[in-house]
Amino acid sequence: MDPLKVAQNEKKYVFHTWTAQKDFKPFIITGGEGAVFWDDKGKRYLDFSSQLFNVNAGHQHPRILEAIKEETEKICYVAPGMANETRAELARLLAEITPGDLTRSFFTCGGGVSNENAMKMAKAYTGRPKIISRWRSFHGATYGAMSITGDPRRLPNEPGIPGIVRIWDPFCYRCFFDKKYPECNVFCADQIREVIEVEGPKEIAGIIVEAITGSNCRIIPPDGYMQKLREICDDYGILLIVDEVMTGFGRTGKMFACEHWGVVPDIMTLAKGINSAALPLGATVVREEIARYFDDHFFPGGLTQFGNPVACAAAIAAIKVYQEERMVENSRALGLKLMAALEKMKEKHTSIGDVRGLGLFAAIEFVINKKTREPLIPWTVEHYEKKNPIISAVLNQLKEDGVSGYSRWNIIFIAPPLCITEEQLMEGLDKIDKAILLVDKAIST
Ligand SMILES: Cc1ncc(COP(=O)(O)O)c(C=O)c1O
Repeated sequence: MDPLKVAQNEKKYVFHTWTAQKDFKPFIITGGEGAVFWDDKGKRYLDFSSQLFNVNAGHQHPRILEAIKEETEKICYVAPGMANETRAELARLLAEITPGDLTRSFFTCGGGVSNENAMKMAKAYTGRPKIISRWRSFHGATYGAMSITGDPRRLPNEPGIPGIVRIWDPFCYRCFFDKKYPECNVFCADQIREVIEVEGPKEIAGIIVEAITGSNCRIIPPDGYMQKLREICDDYGILLIVDEVMTGFGRTGKMFACEHWGVVPDIMTLAKGINSAALPLGATVVREEIARYFDDHFFPGGLTQFGNPVACAAAIAAIKVYQEERMVENSRALGLKLMAALEKMKEKHTSIGDVRGLGLFAAIEFVINKKTREPLIPWTVEHYEKKNPIISAVLNQLKEDGVSGYSRWNIIFIAPPLCITEEQLMEGLDKIDKAILLVDKAIST
């Protein structure tokens, strides 16, 4: 391989995602194993974001590779309208591991399209036109998924699809209602009733939430929020759609994050970790009653590559790896150590306002002033598009030190593959601890 040629071809011929093309800097990855990947010069990096929070079982897991190989030797593609043993087995397995009576899987090829189909199902099932979503959310970049997204990335896509109503998030560190948990009695959930009443209770088909907010700052709902949301949906006949695209498959220390609060959604959307990102796959999983409704109601939706059998074979293998190699347990146990280390960092660094996390799904939030909580970078589209020099310096330092980090606005995320060892985790955290001195210094001048 000629790295110069690769870089030239990338710059000249690839139209890159989420960037102005001139800003794309080729970082050539040539291989990986477990929690580590390496570049064209053989330099190794701890993957502290599991790429895009999806390589949950680690890079190149041999059991997943073997399953892909075996399936390709049988057949590479079967149309979604035909039956296939592997796809059927994956659907059975998902019914087994998802909570409650979530039983039937509509397979897709990613997270955004899983959410698109969840919306369509909710509208068809209830006969109602509107969807409620939250401001600090990201549900994908297809047109409909972008429309339910609340974060500023939706703006270039506006006005988007009609009938989307937004609510504020259960963000205790930056409470939109200026309240304190637990005295607030989870007021942010109660206010959803008010929104429903003014929007017309018979107009709302579904409420979609990320179980734990992913790219919009790792917002972990306080205990009681998801339970109240479930009650509200039941009271109004609204479907609760939980987006577990990022949080599913062991990421938060349970197989699915909604299990932390004992809540069963009506529709759960999945992708990313479903097959540890080996091939494009997603699923929109529905409860029994919704599945039965569509037994005799036509469902208008499906794409050519939905439920590709090779991607499904990789998913069966990945789920077995999560279960049999105790990766969900590892996520839970190391998650506690991760949070203890982050709490110590928060005490030490003047620039850390808050640390949040569950399992191997954590974040460090930077502020200019700990008391006022003024964010280092405002949560706006402008600051999303322009790289912040301070955060860029931290990420560059980490890269130099062999840690691949990921950030959005004033947040650095920590979400390594669930197979990471304690030693690797602590090694990466030491390097993060050191790199944060750059932020401390920048805010003090
Ligand atoms: C919570 C959530 N939902 C949906 C998506 C979209 O998934 P995809 O990129 O596979 O369409 C993402 C992507 O990051 C996500 O974080």
